[in-house]
Amino acid sequence: MNTRNDLFEDKLELRHPRATDGFHLNQLVAASPPLDTNSVYCNLLQCQHFADTSVAAVIDGKIIGFISGYLVPNDPETLFIWQVVVDAKFRGHGLAKRMLNWLVAQSTTENARHLITTITPDNGASWKLFEGLARDWQALMAKDVFFERERHFANQHDDEYLLRVSPLPNRPQESLAHSYSDLRNSLGLSPSRRWLD
Ligand SMILES: CC(C)(COP(=O)(O)OP(=O)(O)OC[C@H]1O[C@@H](n2cnc3c(N)ncnc32)[C@H](O)[C@@H]1OP(=O)(O)O)[C@@H](O)C(=O)NCCC(=O)NCCS
Repeated sequence: MNTRNDLFEDKLELRHPRATDGFHLNQLVAASPPLDTNSVYCNLLQCQHFADTSVAAVIDGKIIGFISGYLVPNDPETLFIWQVVVDAKFRGHGLAKRMLNWLVAQSTTENARHLITTITPDNGASWKLFEGLARDWQALMAKDVFFERERHFANQHDDEYLLRVSPLPNRPQESLAHSYSDLRNSLGLSPSRRWLD
């Protein structure tokens, strides 16, 4: 009997998105709270302009997972992960990790040394995903408040924490001391603030 993992092995395709994926991505995000929904136009742009730094997971022609990302315009060594989504039917089977590992192994992201993303405090699955990746990659993590509930969202949205994971796997190694000071500087952290193990 085929299990879901067998289906992954047999049929899963990971590829960069195409503009024609944008509408389906919009539906997948809309069905995946607590993600912020986007306009179809925004998702079309993600699939067109940010295709090189994004990944679609497809089974039988249907998008079941997606990661949108881009290289930060004034810091092209940093890959920003915008949204990660897996169809509810396919969660808990390592797909989000597979997509991220695939994305950071592509030539289109090879110059990126760091990953950043933003996460709300209560999105446990998202924290676990990035903590698991940092563990697998033996990378360092740092976090700080990025967009604040009152200041940036007029109390309409929870705080968004910026999480930085560095270095990405298979990048040139730097000394631990350099990596720590680099992370600290990038977030403007004082030595004692908000460090994660
Ligand atoms: C977050 C999400 C993308 C995870 O997708 P997934 O394919 O189920 O994740 P994976 O199976 O690759 O799991 C990765 C790690 O996170 C952990 N994890 C995933 N979901 C979890 C949950 N709900 N609770 C606790 N841990 C969880 C896994 O155990 C795994 O840990 P490991 O590295 O120690 O093995 C998926 O739950 C989702 O689409 N949620 C809705 C949208 C969302 O919140 N996106 C994240 C914000 S950008």
